[in-house]
Amino acid sequence: MISVRGARPARARLAALGAYAPERVVTNAELASRVDTSDEWIVTRTGIRERRFAAAGETAGDMAVAAAEAVLASAGVTASQIDMVIVPTGTPDAMFPSTAALVADRIGAHDAAAYDLSAACSGFVYGLAQAAALVEGGMARSVLVIGSEVLSRVTDQTDRGTCILFADGAGGALVTADEGGTATGFLGFDLGADGSGGDDLVLPASGDREAVPGGPVPASGCIRMDGPAVFRFATRIMVETTERLLAALGLGIGDIDLVVAHQANSRIIDHAAERLAIPRERIFNTLERYGNTSSASIPMALAEARDAGRLRAGDLLLLVGFGGGLTWGSTVVRYEPLGAEVPA
Ligand code: COA
Repeated sequence: MISVRGARPARARLAALGAYAPERVVTNAELASRVDTSDEWIVTRTGIRERRFAAAGETAGDMAVAAAEAVLASAGVTASQIDMVIVPTGTPDAMFPSTAALVADRIGAHDAAAYDLSAACSGFVYGLAQAAALVEGGMARSVLVIGSEVLSRVTDQTDRGTCILFADGAGGALVTADEGGTATGFLGFDLGADGSGGDDLVLPASGDREAVPGGPVPASGCIRMDGPAVFRFATRIMVETTERLLAALGLGIGDIDLVVAHQANSRIIDHAAERLAIPRERIFNTLERYGNTSSASIPMALAEARDAGRLRAGDLLLLVGFGGGLTWGSTVVRYEPLGAEVPA
């Protein structure tokens, strides 16, 4: 893409959604046949009944391509119109080339700049913040943000503390410059990071301290998690970031049509719903069927909410992400789909 100073800034608009879930369904019963757990324990403690695993050889890039194509199809936008592809992911196909560069090529976005974004389960909201800033700063007019994860491949499938949670999938959104000048767009963001809690949730990478020069990339890279510590952080931060953002915007929870939070554990969302007095019917969850797909969980849920008729053009959304880093990100945005995307 080329951007020249003086390009007219415009309001950024959440213009389309799309998702992809791999075919293979992994039930709690299947996990219970491998590790010492039970369907009842998993459902009660997490809300998850089943999740999807990518096929052998299927990568985050492959899934991101499918999700990106779904976003473009529903928006009626062609790939050649895309200025930027951002892929939030913790499980890229490689550290370089970026998964985003591969996706841009495969969907035919040959004029797009592309990069991956590392903010764990907050990645999608961080990506939306960047997309909105790029559009509103006049740098780009159409930005794809596609969260995609193959967490099954970096989860120790013999560790009952993590294998019950993490799963695979992709989802994304198109953020465009508002041509008509009438869109509300993104009202605000609250983003943060507290690296002092970084050790609570770790996925090692090629620059690991244990790595030796010329040695193999540490493939020991399975997720290590202090579940109760992350649980305490997540319950606290989901309430705090929501309260902070709504107060800054002068809004109340009653102004929000739909809340979509990172799908980590239904108890985290239930806790926040109770503390923030969010009516049940204003929350949309997919945990039961997809588990925790990290950066993909919010856009997968959004696309599903739209398909289920739970998301209408003009709805005001509260999106809340939290996770490794430790990081968090929330935004309030009006859903203003382009023509083809509008639910019938
Ligand atoms: N099946 C059966 N028992 C299990 C189990 C499983 N899959 N996992 C843990 N247990 C056991 C523990 O060994 C422990 O047994 P003990 O009391 O005999 O020692 C007991 O259940 C309680 O363990 P604890 O870790 O305190 O459970 P928990 O209620 O905190 O639930 C998590 C564990 C992982 C579900 C929960 O901590 C969690 O969801 N944390 C946040 C994780 C998260 O969201 N991560 C991603 C953030 S983006």
